Amino acid sequence: MTEEQPRAGGAIAALDKQPVWNRHHVLDLDDFTPSEIEAVMETTDAMMEVLGREVPRVPALRGKTVVTLFYEASTRTRVSFELAAKALGADVINIGASGSSVQKGESLYDTVRTLQAVGAQMLVMRHGSSGAPYLVARHVEMNVVNGGDGWHAHPTQGLLDIYTMRSHLGDLRGRRVVIVGDIAHSRVARSNIWGLTTLGAEVVVCAPPTLLPYGMRPNGSPLEEPLALPRVDVETDLDRAVEGADVLMALRLQLERMTSGLLPSLREYARLYQLNEERLARARPGALVMHPGPMNGGVEISPAVARSLQSAIEEQVTNGVAVRMAILYLLARGKP
Ligand code: CP
Repeated sequence: MTEEQPRAGGAIAALDKQPVWNRHHVLDLDDFTPSEIEAVMETTDAMMEVLGREVPRVPALRGKTVVTLFYEASTRTRVSFELAAKALGADVINIGASGSSVQKGESLYDTVRTLQAVGAQMLVMRHGSSGAPYLVARHVEMNVVNGGDGWHAHPTQGLLDIYTMRSHLGDLRGRRVVIVGDIAHSRVARSNIWGLTTLGAEVVVCAPPTLLPYGMRPNGSPLEEPLALPRVDVETDLDRAVEGADVLMALRLQLERMTSGLLPSLREYARLYQLNEERLARARPGALVMHPGPMNGGVEISPAVARSLQSAIEEQVTNGVAVRMAILYLLARGKP
């Protein structure tokens, strides 16, 4: 039996007519234009076609080396970038902080320069410090893709969420997207806010005041810088927030990033802020349920809602592979 040869035809060949991306890195969605997001969506459609083939491979990145460098834990992002790069024919090297020379005290700068020196062309990185990928991008020629930095940004998660919403709802202009949970510590919320507002969606964030960024709190805080985010509606009452929602996105409580008691108890939090069946029933009929994962089942979302027919949670994960293929593909044929 001969293995089917990868082919670059079909929807991928049609992408050659797209304008070349004038972008060398993907660090956040704050500087993405609507047409750049549209290019990612169209390219993702083509990648979905590739992933549906008997042999889901195209040689678009043949000869290139992609490194995933993760200083924080990950399942979805790391695995889907690896699958995405392999589906495009790249060589892939995965590095975690443990087991690499980071453990011996090697700096981030020296680590990424080393990866470039051994021949990597693309770097996907996750780091606990907000801004780390921006620092790296200033010191390497490699394409840098932010796989999540601190509380700041997770652009490919935002793009896969947008792709998932669009595949159910079409144009997102005027759609009510409610993001509920630990907004303060959420890079997912921040990237979604940028991407969704760029596309004209009506974004509502909902959390107890202690889990809102200072600039979104009802009384603000004189100690903090002004909020560097687009304006969104802020609610502290979930029952009110879910009214008329087209999308309900629950976020994980990031207990590992909380320094002091921001919540009276998990039980109290779940009572007031859990996405459950009663609250889902107050949203638009058929409203989409989303969660970027990993979930604290029974805390921010009830197991019944997470597994309901309205849940797109596993679909988000599946779409993540195609979206990340699209990002790698667009960067590879973009600005040198
Ligand atoms: N959504 C997300 O970033 O999941 P991982 O931490 O598993 O990558």
